[in-house]
Amino acid sequence: MPETILRRATPQDAPKLALLGATTFLTAFAADHPGQALVDHCAHEHGVKRYADWLANPDYAFWMIETPLGAPLGYAMLCPPEIDITPDPGALELKRIYTLPGWQGAGMGRRLIEAVIAEAKARGAPSLYLCVYTVNVAAQRFYARFGFEKVGQQKFMTGDVPFTDWILRKPLG
Ligand SMILES: CC(C)(COP(=O)(O)OP(=O)(O)OC[C@H]1O[C@@H](n2cnc3c(N)ncnc32)[C@H](O)[C@@H]1OP(=O)(O)O)[C@@H](O)C(=O)NCCC(=O)NCCS
Repeated sequence: MPETILRRATPQDAPKLALLGATTFLTAFAADHPGQALVDHCAHEHGVKRYADWLANPDYAFWMIETPLGAPLGYAMLCPPEIDITPDPGALELKRIYTLPGWQGAGMGRRLIEAVIAEAKARGAPSLYLCVYTVNVAAQRFYARFGFEKVGQQKFMTGDVPFTDWILRKPLG
């Protein structure tokens, strides 16, 4: 694997995050999600404007891993919880963590999640939540390795199609 660089994303990174976000969402869920739902979801949730708005908000933090030439390979997003259960006061959510197929299993996920956990602790969060598709057992094993445990479930809309996510929580004490 060539050298890869982890850094915090800046407002100028919205186009890179949009490209990487849509690409990784499509490759992660193409196997069992309808095509139109994927297109609709990515057009809205992975649009340049969506990322630009988040990057302008100090409550949201993004990390990227890229090549020395600036090609984006992986990203993670930390934000206030947007979950269907009542979170611990002051808790945060790991909203997205994705690395490109072909680059997975090389330690980028660990570097990203460790950066997110460190920042959540620095912000004084007592715990970190995330949501993961119930069918995505590979990601669930990854999260278990970092101490996340199931605390609930909720609906996740991809376009107009509902899917079921587990809600996981990791204490940060
Ligand atoms: C989940 C994901 C972010 C992990 O990133 P990654 O770069 O592949 O993970 P890493 O190589 O850093 O692995 C980190 C650790 O987790 C372990 N791990 C990674 N994937 C695993 C899996 N499927 N099962 C068990 N352990 C796993 C690794 O062995 C490693 O442990 P170690 O550091 O003790 O050796 C990445 O595989 C991915 O983007 N998957 C597809 C998209 C996705 O499902 N995202 C989450 C949506 S909720």
